[in-house]
Amino acid sequence: MRMYDIIEKKRDGGELTKEEINFFINGYCNENIPDYQVSALLMAIFLKGMNEKETSLLTEAMANSGDIVDLSEIEGFKVDKHSTGGVGDKTTLILAPLCAACGVPVAKMSGRGLGHTGGTIDKLESIPGFKTDISKEEFIKNVKEIGVAVVGQTGNLAPADKKLYALRDVTATVNNISLIASSIMSKKIASGADGIVLDVKTGSGAFMKTVEESVNLAELMVKIGKNMGRKTVAVVTDMDVPLGNAIGNSLEVIEALEVLKGRGPDDLKELSFELASKMLEISGLGDKNKCIKMVRKAVDEGLALSKFKEMVERQGGNVKAVEDYDLFKKAPFKYHFKSRDTGYIKEMNTNALGTASMVLGAGRETKESSIDHSAGIVLNKKKGMKVQKGELIATLYSSSMERIKEAERIIENSIIFSPSPVKKRPLILAEIN
Ligand code: URA
Repeated sequence: MRMYDIIEKKRDGGELTKEEINFFINGYCNENIPDYQVSALLMAIFLKGMNEKETSLLTEAMANSGDIVDLSEIEGFKVDKHSTGGVGDKTTLILAPLCAACGVPVAKMSGRGLGHTGGTIDKLESIPGFKTDISKEEFIKNVKEIGVAVVGQTGNLAPADKKLYALRDVTATVNNISLIASSIMSKKIASGADGIVLDVKTGSGAFMKTVEESVNLAELMVKIGKNMGRKTVAVVTDMDVPLGNAIGNSLEVIEALEVLKGRGPDDLKELSFELASKMLEISGLGDKNKCIKMVRKAVDEGLALSKFKEMVERQGGNVKAVEDYDLFKKAPFKYHFKSRDTGYIKEMNTNALGTASMVLGAGRETKESSIDHSAGIVLNKKKGMKVQKGELIATLYSSSMERIKEAERIIENSIIFSPSPVKKRPLILAEIN
């Protein structure tokens, strides 16, 4: 078999076979096939597309390129959840202990943040002492004993995806539905769960800007998951507005804790409960109605919060911080961003808010940048709300006033006012089962 022939076949719109896909993934990982030939194939895939079968085969080849996490020691149906990434998305912090409190084991591997979106691992590390790099044995032991563990992704999970993603990033081939779906699903399949709940974000703060694109991606990922023997469902959710009010690591952990204590913003509560109940539903705990009741009860009775505390304790964190937020690192500078106009907020670009938060120190511009766990934004007003001139829109937290001034400029430029009320779309836009 020759890589040249595979490139030529795809260039001419042909369907790649399992052998051809495995040949190129294995050859690329073993460094027998050079970057320039894989780049050419990626561009051919980008232009000619892949069908569902080819996309499933590519997912399988990438998943098999590294370790497949073995969760068989953990009893019960193991469920994972994945979000395609959004601003203020801290649902994992809520639903992992919540599902565990309802009896569904959650063995979760999460990522770090890059660019305008945050990562669960960075958020958890803002809890003083919390360790996300525990050994595989400890990870499994914790899930067996307390039902939940959230750790960083291991180095050898779908290495083919890591190499391909780096190449896509520099060859203008990221934005292809088959390449995105196989990239995400290869890591989910390799993570070893029996069931997967996908949260596909749509809007100004998301990868996918339109509902139609997001539904197509969600449908494709659900089909791949099912083709690979995993119970898979998806929801398409709004990312034209940040989720909740807090953006930035410790600020988001505190907001998630508020939800676990039965308080917190309504949108964050709604989505976290929806995703958690879907996780219970695919685990076979009952129908939607029953599962949503179980989720609410676990929060109302404080069981989800207790589970969170157990997880913090097991992973070396200071449990006292769950009740005493003063134990989180505090930003030295705090700034009240006030409205210069009166009206309804027609637009407050979510991508810009994510970038502003990164500028404040909460995110990484490059993989090597370090982050400031205390930096970020707490919104007092969001898209669609009425604001008076001089009213507080957001509080900005950072280690320097220069950063605050730059973030202020970004936010200022992202807001458009309207004299008349603005229509807001629902948070949950589609469900794919
Ligand atoms: N997230 C991924 O993991 N891969 C993609 O290709 C896009 C988003």
